[in-house]
Amino acid sequence: MPSGDGREDRSWRLWASAAVVGLLAAATALALVLAPAIEAREAGLDLWSTICRAVGLGHASPVAVGGNVGATPTSEVAWGAQTLNRLARADTQEGARIAGEVCAACHGDHGLSTSGDYPTLAGQSAATIYKQLRDYKSGARSNPMMSPMAAPLTDAQAADVAVYFARVKDPGGLGGRYSNGDDVARRLVVEGDPTRALPGCNACHGTSNPAGGPVETPALSGQQQAYLLRQLHLFATGERRNDLWGRMRIISGQLTDDEKARLASYYQGLR
Ligand code: HEC
Ligand code: HEC
Repeated sequence: MPSGDGREDRSWRLWASAAVVGLLAAATALALVLAPAIEAREAGLDLWSTICRAVGLGHASPVAVGGNVGATPTSEVAWGAQTLNRLARADTQEGARIAGEVCAACHGDHGLSTSGDYPTLAGQSAATIYKQLRDYKSGARSNPMMSPMAAPLTDAQAADVAVYFARVKDPGGLGGRYSNGDDVARRLVVEGDPTRALPGCNACHGTSNPAGGPVETPALSGQQQAYLLRQLHLFATGERRNDLWGRMRIISGQLTDDEKARLASYYQGLR
């Protein structure tokens, strides 16, 4: 009888140990492989980086000092003296050649777009165009049509073409002033909405070019409405994430679809 009890006891202990080890293995697999695999898919990271993040290693880990939480490949453009000098020294003849040979096919002659699929570049600020070209090239901003166009441009060529478009003077270009009278949109543009901590768009975009905000702030007035609306949606979903500090992602995320549509129409109407 005692011997029988001992056997039962041993096998019970064996089962208990096996269950504990099994649970540990399952938990480890869940935490270090399955959860990272799901995160990898949703955040657009590779599996190894997300496993490293799960154990607290790697520069994108929330516990890393100075780590950048979230997989946001934000812009690599810095507004140092080198970049500003490059814009100041731009060769606009070379810019005009590139614009005519490459860009006109989609953005229209002299950057005057006739379609909501393509933004107008005529009259856009040179800093905006330059930054966007660098961002398409680095992958910080991505578009199947535009990314391959930016890829072959050198820094100097990007500056040349940016300054060329910025200097196009045409009534169809960006930067005019006229209100189409939509009060909802006008209030958001001028005052914002303090109840949602929304600054007025004018705080940065202004009505002139260059605008009053950060140096890379684009001119919006006169831009294609469908293009503007698409960008507001892309910022809101985080699909476009090359805005420094997430400024436009935060703002767009606060706007309703109706407000986005009104704002896009307001800005195209401004002339
Ligand atoms: C095959 C068509 C095509 C060609 C050619 C093309 N682009 Fe584009 N471009 C686009 C599309 C489409 C977008 C909008 C993409 C998006 O939503 O990110 C765009 C966006 C841009 C933007 C962003 C504008 C903004 O307001 O943020 C810039 C700058 C730009 N293009 C510059 C150029 C330059 C310079 C060239 C010539 C070297 C060029 N593009 C050639 C299709 C094209
Ligand atoms: C705190 C400054 C700031 C405010 C306020 C602001 N913006 Fe912006 N916005 C920017 C900057 C900077 C960019 C350029 C982001 C980048 O680097 O790509 C931008 C980009 C955009 C673009 C993309 C334009 C293009 O050519 O691709 C749209 C559309 C836009 N803003 C609309 C708005 C609207 C509408 C509001 C008001 C509801 C607003 N913004 C308020 C700073 C601001």
